[in-house]
Amino acid sequence: MWVEDLIRERIRSLNLSFEDSEIHRLIADIKRWTLKNYADKLLKTADGSCTLFSGKYGEPYHSVTAGAVTESIYKFLIPSGLLNTNKKSIKILDIGFGLGYNVTVALYHIKQKNPEIYVEVISFEKNLLAEIPPLPAPYEKFHELILSLVPYGEKEGIKFTLLEGDARLRIKEVKSFKADAVFHDPFSPYKNPELWTLEFLNEIKKRMDQKGIWVSYTSSSAVREALKRLGFRVGSSTPVGRKSSGTVASLKGKIPPLSQKEEEKLKRSPYSIPFRDPDLQRLPIEILIDYRISVLLREKQKHGA
Ligand SMILES: C[S@@+](CC[C@H](N)C(=O)[O-])C[C@H]1O[C@@H](n2cnc3c(N)ncnc32)[C@H](O)[C@@H]1O
Repeated sequence: MWVEDLIRERIRSLNLSFEDSEIHRLIADIKRWTLKNYADKLLKTADGSCTLFSGKYGEPYHSVTAGAVTESIYKFLIPSGLLNTNKKSIKILDIGFGLGYNVTVALYHIKQKNPEIYVEVISFEKNLLAEIPPLPAPYEKFHELILSLVPYGEKEGIKFTLLEGDARLRIKEVKSFKADAVFHDPFSPYKNPELWTLEFLNEIKKRMDQKGIWVSYTSSSAVREALKRLGFRVGSSTPVGRKSSGTVASLKGKIPPLSQKEEEKLKRSPYSIPFRDPDLQRLPIEILIDYRISVLLREKQKHGA
């Protein structure tokens, strides 16, 4: 009932009026998207590595069908281009540290390829876990090293900082950092919308090198549209463990383009509207309600209503 009241109140405050059937569809979608409390549990993924299922978000931390390590390598490290850099020193922004798998796997391979490289990482995490499942060989030692650097430390050519709390607030403390790569890995947009908004992505943009590459597993039209509106070139990474591709974006760096089908979808889908959070402090459900209302208005406009 609480969700329904919130939705009806928002529609009233925006002076909008919809048919009952439209409001029912809206309510059903928001209920489907919003969080349910399940139990946390340990899961085995397709490549043999483990991950956690988050009861709070109703999703696993990594793709179970692709494999946790496989996802880190193929959806984050390789599309970021960091393995091919000839820079002596690189910077990474890591949104959603979670179990530290993306950071560990990336740093392990970057250092294997170029032991002299200096890497600076800033990670964000709202709920730092007390117990983290270990990564399998060959990553276990490196995982221990990274976890030993939490929340701040420097060792073996790695400078690591973890900013605990809501990334929307903590990112403002990051000054003069120009990331070569951003690993954008919150839970999915409907479960964790506050980290996928136009405004939060703009905060990230301000902290990226012009040639830096933003990477994520999502193929969400809302997110791709937000990146485009912020002036990013948007492309897709090779699908792993599912049909849709991940997303890559850069202001001036080289990235593979979106396919024609993906470009068409972005132009035509009523869901290609950014999530909005003007003051970077709205509740996730408020972001979702306004998003779903915008989608409905766009659908109606299309059908000439
Ligand atoms: C999919 S998991 C990240 C997995 C991680 N990248 C890894 O490789 O292990 C998403 C993470 O984002 C964190 N998160 C969600 N909302 C957040 C927020 N507002 N600020 C900071 N972290 C947040 C969650 O607590 C969770 O750990």
